[in-house]
Amino acid sequence: SIEERISLLINEMTLDEKVGQMNQYNGSWDFTGPLPESGSEEEKYEHIKKGWVGSMLSVRGTKKVRAVQKIAVEESRLGIPIIFGFDVIHGYKTLSPIPLAEAASWDLEAIKMSASVAADEASASGLNWTFGPNVDISNDARWGRVMEGAGEDTYLGTKIARARVTGFQGENLDANNTIASCAKHFAGYGFAEAGLEYNSVEMSHSKLYNVVLPTFKAAVDAGVRTFMNSFNTLNGIPATGDYFLQRDILKGDWGFDGYVVSDWASIREMIVHGFAADGADASAKAVKAGSDMDMESHLYVKELVDLVENGTVEERLIDDAVRRILRVKFELGLFDDPYRYCNEEREKATIGNQAINSAVLDMAKKSIVLLKNEGDLLPLKKSGQKIALIGALAADKNSPLGSWRIAADDNTAVSVLEGMKQYKNNKLIYEKGTDVSIGKQSFVEEVKINTDDFSGFEAAEKVAKGADVVVMVLGEVGFQSGEARSRTELGLPGNQQQLLEAIYKVNKNIVLVLNNGRPLALPWAAEHIPAIVEAWQLGTQTGNAVAQVLYGDYNPSGKLPMSFPRNVGQCPIYYNHLNTGRPANTQDNVFWSHYIDVEKTPLFPFGYGLSYTTFKYKNLKLEKSKYKKGDVVKLSVEVSNTGNLDGKEVVQLYINDPVASIVRPVKQLKGFELIKLKKGETKTVKFTLTDAELGFFNNKGEYLVESGIFNIMVGGQSDKGLKDKFELE
Ligand code: IFM
Repeated sequence: SIEERISLLINEMTLDEKVGQMNQYNGSWDFTGPLPESGSEEEKYEHIKKGWVGSMLSVRGTKKVRAVQKIAVEESRLGIPIIFGFDVIHGYKTLSPIPLAEAASWDLEAIKMSASVAADEASASGLNWTFGPNVDISNDARWGRVMEGAGEDTYLGTKIARARVTGFQGENLDANNTIASCAKHFAGYGFAEAGLEYNSVEMSHSKLYNVVLPTFKAAVDAGVRTFMNSFNTLNGIPATGDYFLQRDILKGDWGFDGYVVSDWASIREMIVHGFAADGADASAKAVKAGSDMDMESHLYVKELVDLVENGTVEERLIDDAVRRILRVKFELGLFDDPYRYCNEEREKATIGNQAINSAVLDMAKKSIVLLKNEGDLLPLKKSGQKIALIGALAADKNSPLGSWRIAADDNTAVSVLEGMKQYKNNKLIYEKGTDVSIGKQSFVEEVKINTDDFSGFEAAEKVAKGADVVVMVLGEVGFQSGEARSRTELGLPGNQQQLLEAIYKVNKNIVLVLNNGRPLALPWAAEHIPAIVEAWQLGTQTGNAVAQVLYGDYNPSGKLPMSFPRNVGQCPIYYNHLNTGRPANTQDNVFWSHYIDVEKTPLFPFGYGLSYTTFKYKNLKLEKSKYKKGDVVKLSVEVSNTGNLDGKEVVQLYINDPVASIVRPVKQLKGFELIKLKKGETKTVKFTLTDAELGFFNNKGEYLVESGIFNIMVGGQSDKGLKDKFELE
């Protein structure tokens, strides 16, 4: 068995070799070129030869992976293969929509397929491990990494975590087109104070257990093979050094038998946090807490042998970490054939192939959310129209790739302009109006947005004036969200808002297509612009997807996975908040929970999204009005397509527990179903609720199901629906 093979191998390993398995280096030289001669690159090369490197990150391409693997397998004493990790976050070279956009589809099959084609492409390029999915729940649009997650809701997040893990890993981890996945960032990273990147996180146990941990647990239940811890402190403890999270919960309560990799240099950063005195102390604290692999702190490889020899760290902890790492390598089949992901023919045939492109196009269309469509401005007529297309992002082939797109070639997205040009029976005139980016949108440079160059406005106004419809593509550039891209303003960057208002003055028939990696606050647009399409950053096939939706060849069905605020001051804003003692103005005075300058509701709520057709909900029926704990609560609702087109609707079930030993959210999503309805068709949708949905964790981390009344609501968005209630005895 694998476990026996691991034991035999561990018995043969020296302490240095064991610690080596726990060391991960970033690959920073051209492995197919000459050998590095000095510096840290040479040291890394020497360490691989000695068997002191268990994993490499960001070495990719079959030739390079093969070259590095060859050193490990043929030159190190025991020939233990390296596991190659990479951030395959929303595709590898062919990109699907950013993960937040995918979440807007609520289409678990499509999301699974998107992860599966990403695994296919990445594994064809030599990789066997992705640092994804990001299962961080976050409700703060200021935080740039909301683009990488599934949004604000834990229930939706658990379903998407499962879809992504099973998509990456497939049925069989040792198939050469599947890769090990990684649930990150454990834990609480999405709740960084004030949405400020890398900031500290403080939260109650009840919130940790009810809101943050379930997506990670869902990943474990789906068989995720690795975890990544996170940069933040959680209640004062850096996650990387958090025994409670990694040993008590993950490896203890949940029985996780894969391994935990640190985030980049997060072991070393425990010194900066003020939690460890030096590298040795940081290493000891991290390994004791359950961090099995050191990503780029270079500390385990330097310190752990001494720490074991001087008795600070028990060798059994090293053995446990090594066993976990070797287990995943065995499961991937790397011991049977370390070059199994290095087939150049397959690489050529797979990267960017037709099947992958159609999967990402399908995902892109499903991710689009129609936010407003007054006067049925959309879909656009297919002929005889003069369309003005305005906005630099409309012609941009780079920005739609979004953030976390390291392997994708620059400028490989189909732009909206290219997509719309395919509809040839209309006259399309393009003007950018203003620039949205200055300089290179790279990983290392800040994105600077133009604010004071108005020179392109006139030309844009001119084409808008003579058009039947104006399509404006505005929003954030791809690298304005993602890691280290926190914002304190959530409007349109640069002078795009002024451009929008200027064009509105000359032609009110505007379809605003938004590109963004986070919820934006656009109250003026929501009030004035007749049609708004949330198109996020949709990856390689962006332009095709947007054009098909604008022209009605695809009827949008996306629903927002995060609330859109009215302004940044409302953040964090989320639908499943707790009640206050004074939620509404019942006494006709000022002393209730509200803002004096803006409504407290979001601009667009969680779960919201329109279609080119309309849906009506009726006959919400509970099978019984009283249930006992442990029973299955059954309910059904009828949904009809009352418009003129076939369409899809996400039917959502929310519950509320109005009296509990810990105050419960005003509502919580506890079921959803994506249904297809032909024009005029009615379907009955059935839901069940069990203890798993009705209970909650208290501040001791205990799961409770309490008797009493439960309110339910079923509808097409979080703030409206048919209501009923039942009693749990
Ligand atoms: O996987 C990422 C992580 O999400 C952020 N820090 C760097 C890692 C590796 O690129």
